[in-house]
Amino acid sequence: MEYRKNIVWHHSQVSRSHRESLNGHRSVILWFTGLSGAGKSTIAHAVEAQLHQRGCSTFVLDGDNIRHGLSKDLGFEDSDRKENIRRIAEVAKLMLDAGTITLTAFISPFRLERELARRTVAEGDFIEIYCNCDLTVCEQRDVKGLYRKARLGEIAHFTGISSPYEPPENPEIVINTDQMNIEECLAHIFDRLQKMGILS
Ligand code: PPS
Repeated sequence: MEYRKNIVWHHSQVSRSHRESLNGHRSVILWFTGLSGAGKSTIAHAVEAQLHQRGCSTFVLDGDNIRHGLSKDLGFEDSDRKENIRRIAEVAKLMLDAGTITLTAFISPFRLERELARRTVAEGDFIEIYCNCDLTVCEQRDVKGLYRKARLGEIAHFTGISSPYEPPENPEIVINTDQMNIEECLAHIFDRLQKMGILS
């Protein structure tokens, strides 16, 4: 793309580390992934609430919400999901620079796109949290009634039914949301973040 050669990067006077110092903590991306109904949003918002109580600067980028605005032009075909995750990765990267602990809650079904998201930032800035929940449990929960519609053929490309989900091979954190309650998931996440030196 020819026009790119006319675009330069403008460096700001206030750096990420200045912002982190002001906030009193480091910034990081907590990337939640898992099937629909696996608990990504619930856990991400609960983690955010605890971090907020501790005085941290936080923000949740949530699948359903982002698809009302930034990604409202995208559907659920593979190419659209890839573009959705690319956009989220770029937004999360900006928020990392802004000094914020950013929690993303997207199915993000493909390993490659999660890997590309990881590679947009430096090592240690991207923590993948796999919300591992058996498909049968997600389907039984069916909080939004979407699995039923997908089984009836009323929703195309539904993750786990008619569109694939590739589980992470090496996530930093795994929570088995079909076996652990919310408090146990939170305790495990905070314990791991402390052991990794992300939180004090
Ligand atoms: S993706 O794959 O990461 O781009 O998906 P995401 O942006 O997280 O959006 C998932 C939410 O959209 C609703 N929904 C669907 N999910 C999966 N497949 C299909 N076809 C679909 N259509 C709508 C659903 O409510 C998802 O929310 P969660 O919170 O995951 O249940």
